Amino acid sequence: MKDSAPLATPAITTTGNSQVLNIWGGFPLAGEVRISGAKNSALVVMAGALLGAQACRIHNVPHLADVRKMVEILLSLGVKVGHSAGGVLDVDARDLQGASPSYGLVSQMRASFFILGPLLARLGETWVPLPGGCDIGARPVELHVRGLQAMGAEVEIDHGIVHAWVKNRRLQGTRIYLDYPSVGATETLMMAAVLAEGETIIENAAQEPEVEDLANFCRSLGAKIRGAGTNTIIIVGVQDLHGAEYSIIPDRVEAGTFLVAGAITHSSISVFPAVPEHLTAVTAKLQGLGFDLVSDYPRQLRILSPLVYPGTDIETMPYPGFPTDMQAQFMSLLSLSSGDSVVTETVFENRLRHVAELNRLGADIRAKGNHAIIRGVPHLSGAPVMATDLRASAALVLAGLAAQGQTTIRGLHHLDRGYESLEVKLQALGAKVERTYQPD
Ligand code: EPZ
Repeated sequence: MKDSAPLATPAITTTGNSQVLNIWGGFPLAGEVRISGAKNSALVVMAGALLGAQACRIHNVPHLADVRKMVEILLSLGVKVGHSAGGVLDVDARDLQGASPSYGLVSQMRASFFILGPLLARLGETWVPLPGGCDIGARPVELHVRGLQAMGAEVEIDHGIVHAWVKNRRLQGTRIYLDYPSVGATETLMMAAVLAEGETIIENAAQEPEVEDLANFCRSLGAKIRGAGTNTIIIVGVQDLHGAEYSIIPDRVEAGTFLVAGAITHSSISVFPAVPEHLTAVTAKLQGLGFDLVSDYPRQLRILSPLVYPGTDIETMPYPGFPTDMQAQFMSLLSLSSGDSVVTETVFENRLRHVAELNRLGADIRAKGNHAIIRGVPHLSGAPVMATDLRASAALVLAGLAAQGQTTIRGLHHLDRGYESLEVKLQALGAKVERTYQPD
């Protein structure tokens, strides 16, 4: 018997309460959901706008907590920033003053470290707080630092502050081999190289679509970059850059999350806009489980879901391998398969914290090291759960959509970092979900 969802959202009181999501599971979804601009593009493109001494207009920038934090960081540097309701972000870094943002601002979000490369390239010296670790891992930055040193920067790390400077104010192009295809290090070094003297070659570079999006943004400013999206990126430094108008790619992780929402509720839903080739590893896995993925028109994907699907094994890898940012969401799906699965997380060292919360919903998952062994169960049961990080919170939402009864999710600050109006989008697809307040 399915619990009936309340007819109306109860009046919200706001004293001493925290926001929660209530989800009543078991309802099929239908329709098409609009995908927002990619968080992991928008954040680094906002940092890239520091390179240009001209105004930039960036379209399709999602309204997310992390984007708001990056806006604050840019404002603290004397940059003029405006973010319209329609997702248009105006950035004017002509009067770039501060070379060191506040510790409080930077330590709240790892992506703020992206400003190091552009500030160093633009000003010749900068002080950027070291980003702390986060829920999913220690998140070191030695690949960023070593690459900048190879380009002639001096770097000292003291009291949690990265002080970087260049003797003659201009970085020198060079050949850099990344020990690991780090997305952030690739982006830091690519941005730094844009204004460096001479040619920089980044080998074993990250190939994620967001890296390519950043390169295309920098090229729209007048940068000379080729090879982005492959493992070798070549940048020829220029003296200065002009302004530009640019549009961020759709968020492949949001699109993948909604495809799994369709899969886990045995529904047929579609996502638009999306770039199917950015989702190949995810759609291939879904097809391997018996789900059909069709494209009715350009930049759209629709999923057709069978009632029963087998288990499978997943190993997260750098792009174009299976994305770590989709691992938790897939674990929710696999917890309801008819078989057994093994999920191996190779990118981050602490990204299996959603296992315990999924087990509270009735999943049968054992975490051993960086592996999770999943035995499919016939159903999940709604319960109160706590989100532990951004993608884990999405996984709990997906599990709640399928669970019998009501699931209440706390820790929504994680979710709001990376998903724009998730519950509104799900409601529009027919999900019984509400955001409300509950006593702490
Ligand atoms: C970016 O993080 C994304 N974040 C992450 O998305 C994403 O999971 C990750 O790339 C991998 O795709 C943004 O773009 C803002 P990495 P980033 O440098 O750049 C180690 C989400 O959920 N490493 O490729 O930090 C690192 O510790 C977020 O949207 C070093 O050891 O990822 C990790 O184990 C989560 N030394 C691995 O490499 C370094 O100097 C991958 O990190 C840099 C990284």
